[in-house]
Amino acid sequence: MKVAIIGTGNMGSGFARAFAANGIDVVIGHRDPAKAAALATETGPNVEGGGIAAAAKLADIVLLALPYQAVAPVLAEAGDLAGKILIDITNPITADYKELLLGHTTSAAEEIQKLATGAQVIKAFNTIFAGLIMPEAREGKTLQVFVAGDDEAATATVRELAEKLSFEAINAGPLSNSRFLEPIGEMNIHFGFFLGMGPTVAPAWVRV
Ligand SMILES: NC(=O)c1ccc[n+]([C@@H]2O[C@H](COP(=O)([O-])OP(=O)(O)OC[C@H]3O[C@@H](n4cnc5c(N)ncnc54)[C@H](OP(=O)(O)O)[C@@H]3O)[C@@H](O)[C@H]2O)c1
Repeated sequence: MKVAIIGTGNMGSGFARAFAANGIDVVIGHRDPAKAAALATETGPNVEGGGIAAAAKLADIVLLALPYQAVAPVLAEAGDLAGKILIDITNPITADYKELLLGHTTSAAEEIQKLATGAQVIKAFNTIFAGLIMPEAREGKTLQVFVAGDDEAATATVRELAEKLSFEAINAGPLSNSRFLEPIGEMNIHFGFFLGMGPTVAPAWVRV
């Protein structure tokens, strides 16, 4: 299994490091191929880097580590993603991080699925801060990753990927449940950045 990570920022570099450390082959894609190649070299021996379309072509799973607003142009550049799993980690938020850009009757994940018709879009990881992607950063705590998607096999694959990074993967139902997961991601941002808790918090569903 090879994962293409599109984006070299906080989340992209975090996932590249975490997947590579867990023996998963990674290819990083960026609009500037040299930037992806530099991050790949820095990340490890089983990591490659290059352009967006080249990275996506090499992988079975493509993880979009981009601002929601950048997803449409990047998908236009990515080429044919038919048959691939497309992991959407985005929180579709305003520049000041304080509001959602869409919701109620749709979600970022559903809008991305409309653009990438041949791919299976799976929502995951949007409630995990970048600093908690590496298992050792969690100080022994088990964090939950909510995984929503319409294809059973694809959601199971993404749950397994989350489990490889030592998360507890929770089946969050169909892709349309991203309408509920994205506001949870936004609430997590408010707890982390605006309500004083810091970016080391994560939501969990607890059964009593
Ligand atoms: N950070 C978190 O803790 C966190 C947690 C959960 C979910 N998320 C979600 O994860 C996604 C990525 O967040 P992040 O913190 O990694 O962001 P980031 O650090 O700002 O990185 C964004 C990446 O996207 C690239 N990019 C931006 N605009 C682009 C465009 N128009 N075309 C092509 N590439 C573009 C950037 O390239 P350049 O640097 O060259 O501009 C960078 O590589 C966001 O949707 C966010 O809501 C983030």
